[in-house]
Amino acid sequence: MINDRLQRSLDYLRISLTDRCNYRCTYCMPKDIFDHDHRFLQKNQLLSFEEIISFVQILSRFHLKKIRLTGGEPLLRRNIEALISSLKNDVGIENLSLTTNGSLLDYDKCRLLKQNGLDAITISLDSLRDSTNSMLNPYSNVKKVIDSIYTVIDVFGFVKINVVVMAGVNSNQILEIIEKFKNFNIEIRFIEFMDVGETNQWNLKKVFSSKLIIDEVKRGYELLELPYEKGSTAQKWKLVNYPAHIGTISSITQPFCNSCSRARLSANGIFYTCLFASHGYDVLSKLREHEDHDQVGREIETIWKNRVDQYSLDRLSNKIKIQKYSKIEMSYIGG
Ligand code: GTP
Ligand code: 5AD
Ligand code: SF4
Ligand code: SF4
Repeated sequence: MINDRLQRSLDYLRISLTDRCNYRCTYCMPKDIFDHDHRFLQKNQLLSFEEIISFVQILSRFHLKKIRLTGGEPLLRRNIEALISSLKNDVGIENLSLTTNGSLLDYDKCRLLKQNGLDAITISLDSLRDSTNSMLNPYSNVKKVIDSIYTVIDVFGFVKINVVVMAGVNSNQILEIIEKFKNFNIEIRFIEFMDVGETNQWNLKKVFSSKLIIDEVKRGYELLELPYEKGSTAQKWKLVNYPAHIGTISSITQPFCNSCSRARLSANGIFYTCLFASHGYDVLSKLREHEDHDQVGREIETIWKNRVDQYSLDRLSNKIKIQKYSKIEMSYIGG
């Protein structure tokens, strides 16, 4: 194990498989910016599956326990099940999961992902209403996403859903989302709109805080607070009398940097030590220049041991001026 300067280990890697997505959520890839003229990464700029596996093997010496595949939309990468199988069966990653928009999942794909070693799936869904979705996520097909949620429950026995809550947009729909899924083995995570990237026109007025979210949930349901799991992004509750769990992810009002053991690998192979980083370590070049893997491991070790990132905490205490800070887009760094 290696610890950073704030005594946080490196046990969770989030890998973005592509910067492309077939959706255009306003808080992530606003459609007027990510339009026909937008230059996405070309195929040869993306890490190949072999390169991803090599890098994960390098990191596994630090006792990496968990990997989450993200994007963009990770299911746009063809034959993702081959990557999943290698990560699970050859490298031996304990906990392997995927965050998707749910548009490309059907029963057969889900079975294939599970058979190849995927442990869990998280699906993004911000509203059950077409009218809200057309504002928040103009290309989404709510019915398809809901079907995918049920399919994942069928195949995996469990699903997490991510709901980004934006004040005055879908903040009035928290109870109806719970109502829809309360009888399932599901964790519904309500996420504060984050100031990630430079294009989503974030401002504090658009944030619906976790406190308000929980107040709203309590108008309809009794909640039992669960102990905080160290390193988790979410605070969790059980819905009394129902199988569903509720989570809040409070990057803005209650940052969880203190126990952040997450590193990130962007689709083009840059290793970042924070979601809000502006610089990273170029893994892709190192691998393509045939740098010795032990040497790459030593460089990562040095980077991690020097890590002091705690962007969200610093923003909360006004140590960082957002306007002066250049941040990488969510779809590229992988959420
Ligand atoms: P699990 O730990 O497996 O539950 O997954 P997760 O919550 O790490 O992953 P998911 O992809 O579902 O992300 C949920 C939300 O948390 C998204 O909005 C992410 O962008 C956000 N998130 C994930 N990791 C971090 C982080 O390190 N810092 C911040 N600020 N937000 C994060
Ligand atoms: N704020 C909060 N969550 C976001 N996501 C994407 N952009 C943002 C943002 N600006 C969420 C998506 C997805 C997860 C990986 O990140 O909803 O579920
Ligand atoms: Fe695509 Fe997910 Fe970003 Fe929405 S949040 S645009 S589904 S990558
Ligand atoms: Fe970790 Fe950076 Fe997110 Fe804080 S802001 S939890 S340090 S990724």
